[in-house]
Amino acid sequence: MIVITTPTGTIGAAVAESLRTAGASLRLVARDPSRLPATLCEHADVVTGSHADPAVLDTALTGAKALFVLVPPNFTTSDVTEHYLSFARPVAEAVRAHGVPRVVAVSSLGRGFTGPAGMLSAAWAMDEVLESSGAAYRSLQPAFFTENLLHQVEPIRDQGIFALTADPDAPLVAVATADIARTAAGLLADPTWNGKEDVPVRAPVDHTPREMAQIISETLGQPVAYHQVTLTDYRTRYESSGASPAVVDAMVEMAEAQAAGVYPPASVRGDGTTFREWCESVLKPAVRPTPRTGGDA
Ligand SMILES: NC(=O)c1ccc[n+]([C@@H]2O[C@H](COP(=O)([O-])OP(=O)(O)OC[C@H]3O[C@@H](n4cnc5c(N)ncnc54)[C@H](OP(=O)(O)O)[C@@H]3O)[C@@H](O)[C@H]2O)c1
Repeated sequence: MIVITTPTGTIGAAVAESLRTAGASLRLVARDPSRLPATLCEHADVVTGSHADPAVLDTALTGAKALFVLVPPNFTTSDVTEHYLSFARPVAEAVRAHGVPRVVAVSSLGRGFTGPAGMLSAAWAMDEVLESSGAAYRSLQPAFFTENLLHQVEPIRDQGIFALTADPDAPLVAVATADIARTAAGLLADPTWNGKEDVPVRAPVDHTPREMAQIISETLGQPVAYHQVTLTDYRTRYESSGASPAVVDAMVEMAEAQAAGVYPPASVRGDGTTFREWCESVLKPAVRPTPRTGGDA
């Protein structure tokens, strides 16, 4: 039995679907099971509730051979690290109590960086707690999700622009969420690994934002430029989006750490999704949805 948290989220849904297709025995932990696809529910146990809840975890982890953990984003928390730990602590306790042999979690690249790193530091605090659970552990370590650009579909389409804090000419470490899910599913289905390891997940090539703009332009057939925003503007943007002061601080601190080189150079390159493939398969349909063909209403 493989237990999947956040099966309605971007990565969790892809992990669950990949394991379902492979015929794995699955248990899904979801706050609102009505949001799960019927095809998935037909082939899985479903436990209703949050994986921050010890009682839910107690039910979910009975007989579990592997567990996928993802801490949901929370843009209104008053303490970013405490938010991560509010999931990590009960999960670690339940893993220990049920003797779950293997745990795979989504963390962040750059672990080992000694300076403050905001959101990243909170994810690494989660790693430490999960590592203490007694299970074999894999910390999946992505950097920037290419899916973050989907928040900028409108400016890309309407103004021909996308904006980040990154240096236009410095390689941006990124990865498609499909590759994170594929890596997680592979580890969860494999009962042979032991010990604790960090597993970087990154695209085959790190493009600079200027190169990304060129690839986006070629894919969409319209000019799209990159605009570097200052950290002050970045902060203001998050403040006006309703994020809590703690989250705004953690996002800015993360951007500062990224500018300071928090991500190490790639030791091994994956054979995952290239940025051009991602633009073709994910960004383009989001920017220019295919019009629905007619039919009976
Ligand atoms: N974006 C990046 O560039 C980046 C980079 C590195 C790491 N990360 C990490 O990646 C993770 C985000 O993954 P994602 O994109 O797959 O997330 P997502 O699509 O936003 O999905 C969030 C999931 O969490 C569930 N959820 C929300 N609140 C919950 C709660 N209180 N208890 C239980 N479940 C809850 C949601 O389900 P319901 O709402 O249906 O209950 C949903 O399934 C975060 O941990 C983030 O720090 C992100």
